[in-house]
This record gives sequence, C-alpha cells and structure tokens, in this order.
Amino acid sequence: MSRKILVTNALPYANGDIHLGHLVGYIQADIWVRYQRMRGHAVHYVCADDTHGTPVMLRAEKEGLTPEQLIARVHGEHLRDFTDFGVAFDNYHSTHSAENRAYAEDIYAKLKAASLIDTRAIEQYYDPVKEMFLPDRFIKGECPKCGAADQYGDNCEVCGAAYAPTELKNPYSAVSGAKPVLRTSEHYFFRLSDERAVAFLRDWTRGTNTAGERRLQAEAANKMKEWLGEEGENKLSDWDISRDAPYFGFEIPGAPGKYFYVWLDAPIGYLASFRNLAGKRAAAGETIAVEDYTDAARAAAAGTEMVHFIGKDILYFHALFWPAMLEFAGYRAPSQLCVNGFLTVDGAKMSKSRGTFITARSYIEQKLNPEWLRYYFAGKSNGTMEDVDLNLDDMIAKVNSDLVGKFVNIASRCAGFIAKRFDGRLAASDIAAMLEFESAHRAGVVARAYDERDYSRALREIMRLADVANQYVNDHKPWELAKQEGQEAHLHEVCSTALTMFRDLTTYLKPVLPALAGQVENFLSLDALAWQDEWAPLPAGHAINAYQHLMTRIERKQIDALLEANRESLAPAAAAAAQDAKNAKAASSQQRHAEKQQHAAQAAETASAHISIDDFTKVDLRIARIVDAQHVEGADKLIRLQLDIGETDEAGNPKPRQVFAGIKSAYDPAALVGRLTVMVANLAPRKMKFGMSEGMVLAASDADGKNAGLYILSPDDGAAPGMRVK
Ligand code: MSP
Ligand code: ZN
Repeated sequence: MSRKILVTNALPYANGDIHLGHLVGYIQADIWVRYQRMRGHAVHYVCADDTHGTPVMLRAEKEGLTPEQLIARVHGEHLRDFTDFGVAFDNYHSTHSAENRAYAEDIYAKLKAASLIDTRAIEQYYDPVKEMFLPDRFIKGECPKCGAADQYGDNCEVCGAAYAPTELKNPYSAVSGAKPVLRTSEHYFFRLSDERAVAFLRDWTRGTNTAGERRLQAEAANKMKEWLGEEGENKLSDWDISRDAPYFGFEIPGAPGKYFYVWLDAPIGYLASFRNLAGKRAAAGETIAVEDYTDAARAAAAGTEMVHFIGKDILYFHALFWPAMLEFAGYRAPSQLCVNGFLTVDGAKMSKSRGTFITARSYIEQKLNPEWLRYYFAGKSNGTMEDVDLNLDDMIAKVNSDLVGKFVNIASRCAGFIAKRFDGRLAASDIAAMLEFESAHRAGVVARAYDERDYSRALREIMRLADVANQYVNDHKPWELAKQEGQEAHLHEVCSTALTMFRDLTTYLKPVLPALAGQVENFLSLDALAWQDEWAPLPAGHAINAYQHLMTRIERKQIDALLEANRESLAPAAAAAAQDAKNAKAASSQQRHAEKQQHAAQAAETASAHISIDDFTKVDLRIARIVDAQHVEGADKLIRLQLDIGETDEAGNPKPRQVFAGIKSAYDPAALVGRLTVMVANLAPRKMKFGMSEGMVLAASDADGKNAGLYILSPDDGAAPGMRVK
C-alpha cells in the first residue's frame, strides 16, 4: 500500500549559518524521503527558516538591518546550503509568513475555546535602558552557588548550577549592560498541566506509524516517561507562550503588545510551509489536499502521516507542547518523531579554535564533494538518538575505500573497453553470474534498514554486495582478456555483466548519493533508477555513454585546508553572538530542563568571526611584575601569583593582585618571580576554592589548550608594571 507522508526537518534559526552539525538531521531526512519515493510512496518534504524571537531582533539591529531584511538574506543562504548538499525540500518557507500567522491564530483561538489558555502575572527582569524584558540568556551576573563572574541567567558554566535569573548576584543586562529591574507583566499560558493534555500525551507516546513502526525511538519514549511521570502523576507545568513588546513575532489577537513566543509559531511553520507549497502547486495545476494531512478527522480517514525529523535538543518541544497543541486545536498530531543525536568531530564537540566548527558554506567553497559527507553520515546513522562522531581520518578511509575503491572501481575498470572495443554497446550479461549476484542481493534487508533509518546497516549490506561484484571482475580480469586473442566476446560479456551489477549497486545507493546516481544514469543512458522487484540485466545492444570520472579520492590536505578555513583564534571574544541559538531555545525554566543536556556542548560555538575595536578595548591589558609565585596546596594545575600593576592601598603601599594561573605544568614558581608579563586587569574578580582571583595572565598554547606547551608572555625591555597594552 502506498503511504502518503508529510516529512519535515527542524526549522533552522534565521540568525546563524548552517554547519555540519545541522546537516546530520537534514541528510538523514533527505535520504529517507528519497528512499520512500523510490518505493513509490507519496512524500511531501518541507522546511522553513525559524525567524522570530529576541535574538533575531537584536542581531538585525546590530547589523543595521530590519528583521525582515536579515531573514530574507539568511533564507537565501540556508536554502543554497541545503541545495548544495543535495537536501531537496519541496518547499523552503519562513515562519514570518501569512500562512504561518493564519495557522498560529487559528490554533490559538481553538486552544482558547477549549479553555486551555490562561493568563497570569509574572515578575521578570526588565532592562530599563533598552526598555525590554530580558530572556534568561540575556541576563548575566555572578553565579549564586560558586560566585563565578559573567554567568548567564539560567545556569552556570563553571559549576553547572541551575537557577532563576533573580538568584544571580550583581545582575546586568547582556544587551545594554544596565542593572535590570524586576517588573510585573501579564503572560499567556498554554495549560499543559491540564489532565486532558497529560492523558493525551501518555496515549500518543505509545502510538505507531502506518507501517507499524513505533512513533518514538526507545530513548525518546524513555524521556517521555521521565517527563510525564508515573501513571496518575502529573509533572507537567503550563507553558508560557507570550512575550512582551518589543519582540519580533506575531502579535497575539486581542492582546495588544503581547506576542506569540517564538517556540509557539516555530513548529506551526511546518504546516505553513506545506500550505505554501500547495499554493505553488495549485498555480501549476496540481492539487495537494492539505487538510488530508493537517485536519485530525480527515487525516485519520485519508491515512496520511506527518513525520518530523529533529535533533535531540528539541525533543521536549516536539514531544510535549507540539502534539498537545495540535490535538486540542483539532489538528492531526505527529505520526512519528525521528530524532538524531549531536555531531562531534574527532570525538569532541565542534570547536572554533580547532577549526572543527565547520560551516556548510566553507565545505563547498573548499571544493569538497558533498556526497562524501552524505555517505559518511549515512554510515554513522543507525536510527537511534546516539551522538554521531565525524572522525576525519575515518571519513577519508571510508570514502576512499568504499566509494572509490569498491563502488566506482567496478565501472572504471570496465567502461573503457565497452567504449573502445565495442562501439559503446553492451553484450548480453553472463546469466549464471547474474543469478549468483542477485541471490546475494538481500534487497529486503537493505529496504528494511532504509525504512528504519539504519543507514549504517543498509550501507554495510550494499558494500558486501559490491565485494561480490568486485570478485566477479577480479575473477575474470577484463584487462587481461583484452590482451588475449579470441577473447573478444568474453571480454564484452564480462564488462557488460559488471556494468549491470554496477547499475544495481547504484540503485541501492541512490538515496544516499543522488548526484552520483544521476551521473551513472547518464553514463549508462538509463531513465531514473527505481527500486526493482525483478532485476532484469541491461539488454544486449544497449548503448552507453563515454565514461567520465565519477568520484575522486579525498586527500588529507583537503581536510586540513577545510579545518584551517574554519579556524578562529579569538573564539571566546565573540561569545555574545554565540548566544543567539541558545537564547531562543532556553527561555522558560521548564524548557531549560530539556535544554541543559545539549547546551553546554554548544556554548560559544556559533560566534561570529569578528569583534569590533570597541569590544577589544573593553579588555584592560596591563604589564605586570610577578612579585611572588607559590604552589597551591591541593591544586594540580594552579600557581598563585602576586602581580604588581602599579596599584597601591590607601596608605600608598604597593598592593599586588592575586591571580591563580593554570600554568603549573609548564613553570616552576621560583623561576617566575621577578618576571614581567601581561595580565587582564578588568576581569571580574572570581572566588575560587583557594581564594579570590583578581585577573588573568595570558599564555599561549596549542589549539587544544592542553597543558602541554604553555608559554606566558614577556614584554620588550622598557615596559613597566601598570602600562596599558593596546
Ligand atoms: N529553530 C529551532 C528548531 C525549530 S523546529 C520547529 C532550532 N534551530 S537550530 O538551528 O538550532 O537547529 C536546527 C536543527 O539542527 C535542530 O534539529 C537541531 O537539533 C539540529 N542541530 C543543531 N546543531 C546540531 C549538532 N551539532 N548536531 C546535530 N544536530 C544539530 O533548534
Ligand atoms: Zn557556578
């Protein structure tokens, strides 16, 4: 039976570049969509930019643009990136659209009619200079637990404590620097704690898709159990869905100055993009019955499915708020969530300083083949929520050995003879060899693996089959037959047979490597390859085109150039911009729960490349004389330094600063005394286990910041304590 599926990918924020981490989930979805279509299922595949919220508003302001100008530019960039990686949405729309507004207003009105919207006054920090309420991530101050300076309003990156922004000591606005004040304002809530919602979600969690596959992966189902609690328990709290002006978003009908919170209208963007697609198709004379996919009753009758591909950090939004919103507004709830883990590169979180925070654009600009990445990511995807590691040497090895060495090699060893010796025409395939090859196919295993998004399994199976094909070529050695008298017909048959095998393999690989498959279709002069039930050999007399190189090997130096292009030395300085992505997600304490697991890993990584001179001059760098240096009892990395930067106490006596420096692995304290170096003098004092640290000394190290090889700085002769470095 043919399935009718609306497939979506998470909507990327309109304030950041697409990077290889994003691509994990988009490539997984695209492969699935292509596979389902090859099996004859009807799939609509949509996405959009997630455009609303405070970070977009502030980013636009900073760039001197209107939010509309910013999101228009980013829309073009994102779509181009996806297209270049073969991620082929039917439509790439925007949450800042008429369709999205209409759906958001409709869903809101229906939830209100179902008595699931409440209002209540809440007290929140307000920036009196910028005249706006501050999301948690835009408030900074000292951690209430450990005293670390410059921590965000929701959790401390030094000690890991989670707290409310009102608990921060000496809070300040990350937008204006002003001291925030508490203000009360009326907020709108979606009553997720309503027992109807809880009962519905328990039931929804247990569902399956039309193929009988579970709606949620095992790990996601476990998370749901944790969030929903035991039967009879209700651990859900109501969800704050409004934000006060100024805000870039949709104003709530009948509530002037109140806007829908970005996460309310973001998933609604799936429906908006689909509706917009239907509009475009209608203009071309094709009808998509949108309500068959979106209306609860009609979807049930039509047997359609709605499948969301998302990353694990946004499961909370998609598994709780989103299905409940849809259900109680009379819309169809999601059939299935396909959740991907997070990307690490060479075993570590992506890092700007190591150059592993790799943008999609840089990969294309460095002329790397996008299908290398698709193949590698597919090989690492097993349908679970486990994190995915991009091991760069492993990627080189896999692509070179599997794709170039095994797959492409079959064609490149046979094609030339067909062109040169047989006028570009095939002979009938060797029937016995083909029968043997087909019995090795195990198409059902490949199909099931694709269906279950266990692409790793599918590729193992396909490569096993490629081994069988290569064995056939090796056994018959066309390059030797070509030199022997009277072996013309045999040579012709062997090459033709191998090319039929190559055709089969290409068919299996097509969801993963659509561009390569397209080149092969062209080379073999075939219509678009479709999944076969009967694999008829390519017929005798079939004319093929001249063979053109299908894929080159990856060289390590190309990867090194890619890392170099993405390497940034000043990553921490741009941390403010890095908050954009975090900010939009971590806005209420309830969400924070789901956020924390991932956000630590994403910190400071989406930063922009440049800082302004103003940013730089904020750092007060001073020449300091090390007047004392001591081991610290109980600390294996630290040395306690006393640094003279010309400061004195009230009586006029020299008053050195105490600084704890993590340089013990590289320096003997005694050898430091008397030296001049450079310190950051205006870093907020930080209380440490061993006492106050009143600044920081600078030291050079390799990109990993490991303690092997640490070098503190020395000024030229003539510099004196207290001099400013700028
Ligand atoms: N705008 C929200 C999603 C709204 S969906 C209604 C968002 N945007 S995002 O740009 O931060 O992320 C887009 C997708 O990429 C999400 O599925 C997210 O989980 C995924 N990833 C972002 N960084 C990732 C990695 N480093 N690794 C794997 N997936 C990653 O969230
Ligand atoms: Zn702390």
